[in-house]
Amino acid sequence: MSAAKAPTLDADLTAGLRRLKLATIRQLAPELLLVAKTQRWAPEEVLRALVEAEITARDDSNARARLKAATFPVLKTIDEFDLAASSIPAPTWAYLSSLEWIHATENLALIGPAGTGKSHTLIALGHAAVTAGHKVKYLTAADLVETLYRGLADNTVGKVIETLLRNDLVLVDEIGFAPLDDTGAQLLFRFVAAAYERRSLGVASHHSFEDWGRFLPEHTTAVSMLDRLLHHATTVVTNGQSYRMLQARQRAEGAPLTP
Ligand SMILES: Nc1ncnc2c1ncn2[C@@H]1O[C@H](COP(=O)(O)OP(=O)(O)OP(=O)(O)O)[C@@H](O)[C@H]1O
Ligand SMILES: [Mg+2]
Repeated sequence: MSAAKAPTLDADLTAGLRRLKLATIRQLAPELLLVAKTQRWAPEEVLRALVEAEITARDDSNARARLKAATFPVLKTIDEFDLAASSIPAPTWAYLSSLEWIHATENLALIGPAGTGKSHTLIALGHAAVTAGHKVKYLTAADLVETLYRGLADNTVGKVIETLLRNDLVLVDEIGFAPLDDTGAQLLFRFVAAAYERRSLGVASHHSFEDWGRFLPEHTTAVSMLDRLLHHATTVVTNGQSYRMLQARQRAEGAPLTP
């Protein structure tokens, strides 16, 4: 007895589906058509099953591409965040997690000392935004300024900024970790000004806003930048102990890893 031959599609259909880049339908159709014939599916059921499979596969693939493009340094999620161990008020966290602020092109500013969950929050919210279908880009302020500096060298700063602002949300972490020179500050200002009321920005810094004049050489730049950044923004102060230190201490004491 010979083994049952795997069902195939006619060559013209296979070619057509390949040309239309309907890879999932192309893969599923032979088997599915066979099942549909045997089980006497209504024609629209066949079409629905194929279209739904293609949409699901495409959504998954787009989400994977968006996640890659976001360039998160590590993956952090909202679920992994222990709200009780942080100083972020629950209603603020709920609002941020709802992602409504991204729809409203509002900003998020996180201010607090080392290890208090600023990067975790930025990345977790960014990840949730990617899952919800938004385009997101994470970068440190140093990376951003370096990228803009490169644009300055070949006269493409405007283009670099517009490319970044194709994202719905740009996360700029570690603002003020390293001091900026005049040009760096001007470039950062240009970016913030270009994003103003057009795209959501999420920023994190150790420095309270009054201190931004310290790492931004010109005081006026700091004032004008903050003015734009904070006009439509949620500001969150993360204070308290460093979660890293807390974990390190608990590990040293052999205690379970809970705050
Ligand atoms: N509330 C929290 N719940 C769960 N994990 C947390 C929490 N806060 C911080 N962490 C974890 O502690 C570590 C340090 O947090 P994070 O990197 O977000 O700190 P940070 O505020 O960005 O610090 P820095 O200013 O040094 O960059 C990370 O592994 C993060 O996942
Ligand atoms: Mg950080």
